[in-house]
Amino acid sequence: MASIDTLNLPLDETSAADLSAVGLEYARVDADGEGFRPFQRAVARGFLGGESTDDEAENSRKTLRTRRLTGVFDRSGTEPEVPVGTIDSWAAPLTTSPGRTCDLWSISAVTVAPTHRRRGIARAMIGGELRTAAAAGFAVAGLTVTEATIYGRWGFSPAAWASDVVIDARRARWTGPVAPGRLDFVPRASLVERLHAIHERVRVQRPGSVPGWDGRWRGVAGIAPGDKEAEKVRAVAYRDAAGTERGILVYTIEETAEFSAHDLNVRALFADGDEAYAALWRFAIEHDLVGTVKAWLQAPVPPVQWMVSDRRAVTATLTDHHWLRVLDVPGALSSREYSAPLDVVLRVDDPLGLADGAWALHIDAAGAASVTAVDDERAVDLELTVGALGSLLLGGVRASELGATGLVRGDRQTLAAVDRAFAPAATPLLDIWY
Ligand SMILES: CC(C)(COP(=O)(O)OP(=O)(O)OC[C@H]1O[C@@H](n2cnc3c(N)ncnc32)[C@H](O)[C@@H]1OP(=O)(O)O)[C@@H](O)C(=O)NCCC(=O)NCCS
Repeated sequence: MASIDTLNLPLDETSAADLSAVGLEYARVDADGEGFRPFQRAVARGFLGGESTDDEAENSRKTLRTRRLTGVFDRSGTEPEVPVGTIDSWAAPLTTSPGRTCDLWSISAVTVAPTHRRRGIARAMIGGELRTAAAAGFAVAGLTVTEATIYGRWGFSPAAWASDVVIDARRARWTGPVAPGRLDFVPRASLVERLHAIHERVRVQRPGSVPGWDGRWRGVAGIAPGDKEAEKVRAVAYRDAAGTERGILVYTIEETAEFSAHDLNVRALFADGDEAYAALWRFAIEHDLVGTVKAWLQAPVPPVQWMVSDRRAVTATLTDHHWLRVLDVPGALSSREYSAPLDVVLRVDDPLGLADGAWALHIDAAGAASVTAVDDERAVDLELTVGALGSLLLGGVRASELGATGLVRGDRQTLAAVDRAFAPAATPLLDIWY
C-alpha cells in the first residue's frame, strides 16, 4: 500500500457531479500552489481558529504536502478562492494486532463554511473519500471526531476508546514498581526525533494506533510556531539499565492559586514497556510543587490506577476516540490475529454498498483469518451493520455487548464464540489526535 500515491488518485466523479448540480466545484488543492493559504484559512475558520501567520502556514504546509487536500468551491462568492468545504486524507498503517497492520485511509480537516452548511457538502466530501479509498484498495477508513453525532451515517463507528486522566497527586502515593533505569531531562530541540523513535516502537504493538508525523511532534515539543506555552515545555526521557531510551514524558507546569499545588499537564507520555511507564508516571505524580497531573488519550483503564495507594485519586474519563469504517471486509478481517478459532457467516449491511454482503470468516487454530464472499445467505450466523463491524474489528468492544443493542444479531453461542475469537492481545488505543 505504501506504493499507492494517494495524491495522484482521481477525484470521485459522483461527488463532483452532485456538487456541480448545486453550482459548486469539487477540486484538488496543491499544498505548494496558490490555493494552499486559502485552504488553510478555511480549515482554521472551520475549527474556530485564528488567522495563521506566515510561519504557522509554512509549518502546516510541511505536513499537508504529504496529504491529499480537496476543497469545494463556490465560485460565485466574494472570496471564490477560499473553499467552502475542506477535507484531507493520507495513507497510514493501522495496527490491528501487535506487529500487524492494515491499510488505513486517514481523514482529517473536515470543515464546511458556516455560510454553506447543511447543503450536502460534507456528504459529498466524505462519500468521495470513501469511494476513492475503496477503489484504491484500502481496507479501512478512519478519523478522530469533534462530535459523536456526525460520522455514524457514513458507517464510521468507535473502535478504540481513550481516557482523559486527572490525578490528585497529593492523595496518590506511589506504590507501583520501582524502575531500575534512570530519568534525565532532554532538550526541546531533540524531541521530534525522540518522540518519533519511541512512538514508532509503541504504536506497532498497540491495536488502534497509527504513526505520528513530524508536524504532530513539533506541536508536542513546543517548537511549532504560535505555541503560546512553548517556553514552558519540558521533557524527561527514561533509559533502562542497559542504557536504551524506552520512554519520554513531555509536559508543562501550569500555575494555580496555590503555589505548592500546580498542575502538571502531560503533552505526551509514551512508554516502550512497563518500566518506562512506571518511571514516567512516578516522576509526574511525585513532582514537587504539583497538586494535579492531567493527561489525555490514555488507556481506557489506565494502569497507573494500580500503582498508587488510593485509586480514587485517579479519575479517568472515557471517550470514543478512533472511529473506523470498514471498506473491504476480507482485507480488514484478515489483517489481524485472533485469540480462538471460529467459523461464522457474517451478513454486513452497508448502505453505501462498499462492505455489503455475506462473508464466511474462518479463523484457524493459529489465529489466522481467511474471508470469502458467500452467495447463500441462508447460512448467515450473524447480521451486523458496517459500523458495528468497524467497532468489533480490533476487539475494543465485544459482539455480545453490541448484541444487546441490535447492531449485531445472532444467537448467544455465536456471539460468545465471536467474543472469544476477537479478544484483543492488547486493549486498542490511539494515543494521538489526527
Ligand atoms: C460537521 C460539518 C462538516 C457538516 O457539514 P455539512 O455540509 O453541513 O453537512 P451535510 O449538509 O453534508 O449533512 C450531512 C448529514 O449530516 C448531518 N449533520 C451535519 N452536521 C452535523 C452535526 N454537527 N451534528 C449532527 N449531524 C450533523 C446533517 O443533518 C445531514 O444529515 P442527514 O444524513 O440526515 O441528511 C460542518 O458542520 C462543520 O464544518 N462543522 C465544524 C467543523 C467540524 O466539527 N468538523 C468535523 C471534524 S471531525
